[in-house]
Amino acid sequence: MSDGQFQGKAVIVTGGGTGIGQVTAREFARQGANVLVVGRTAERLAETAEGSERIRPFAADLTEDGAAEAIVAAALAEFGRIDVLVNNAGIVEPAALGEIKPGAFDRVVATNLLAPVYLLQAALPHLSESQGAVVNVTTAIGQRGWPMTGREFYAATKAALESLTRSWAVQLAPRGIRVSAVAPGPIATQIYAHEGLTADEARAQHESLKGMVPLRRLGKPDEIAYWIVQLASPSAAFVTGAVMPVDGGAVIA
Ligand SMILES: NC(=O)c1ccc[n+]([C@@H]2O[C@H](COP(=O)([O-])OP(=O)(O)OC[C@H]3O[C@@H](n4cnc5c(N)ncnc54)[C@H](OP(=O)(O)O)[C@@H]3O)[C@@H](O)[C@H]2O)c1
Repeated sequence: MSDGQFQGKAVIVTGGGTGIGQVTAREFARQGANVLVVGRTAERLAETAEGSERIRPFAADLTEDGAAEAIVAAALAEFGRIDVLVNNAGIVEPAALGEIKPGAFDRVVATNLLAPVYLLQAALPHLSESQGAVVNVTTAIGQRGWPMTGREFYAATKAALESLTRSWAVQLAPRGIRVSAVAPGPIATQIYAHEGLTADEARAQHESLKGMVPLRRLGKPDEIAYWIVQLASPSAAFVTGAVMPVDGGAVIA
């Protein structure tokens, strides 16, 4: 991949303080982009930005009213343009059938599904015509049917985001804005710790998911970041509406 292909471009990465989002933000910056990283925790964002003048932190809760507009305003104030939007922030809050109370999934829907809607809506008037790109982060395991009870609703929000990816790709194509998704398999991040699992529980969750992966290992955040950046890049100019599994073969097993 060319190191300077994002020179002068401006990128927003949500969930950019940790895991896949952190590595993605750093890779965009390495390739010349200015990057606004968004998350709720200022210290995590500062860690991502450390050592890079091109990465600017912006602390915001994507589920709050007005957050999308504030994020877009911050990107425009910092960089004067928006070329790429990466909807990477996501949460898992499991609840199994039989135990689901009203409202149990409100935060999951607001974060995984509605936040990308509002953020794209706010960014759209400013997204580069002809070279704009949106990359949504979904999930590969959810395309098969989640084996452990309680996380199927998380998978459902990601399936809905994949549907939006295809519809937005069609609707925004006349403006030259491409919309794609990366669907990771199980990746070695702190996602289960952030969900509230203990280290042992998180390890057990990852171990059982690993059993669904023909390549028999967890993916690494940089293996997902590579494809997010690739799909946003000018070299993918003829790709839109694609959902790219990066999962060690999990969806086909
Ligand atoms: N790891 C996997 O196995 C895997 C597999 C398939 C898909 N994915 C997807 O990949 C994406 C990145 O996950 P990850 O594995 O890197 O886990 P992660 O480290 O938990 O990343 C999630 C990020 O989202 C941010 N976030 C959560 N709620 C937010 C909100 N309301 N407003 C703003 N930011 C918010 C978190 O930061 P704060 O808490 O500081 O806000 C965090 O940086 C997610 O969409 C996830 O569903 C992960």
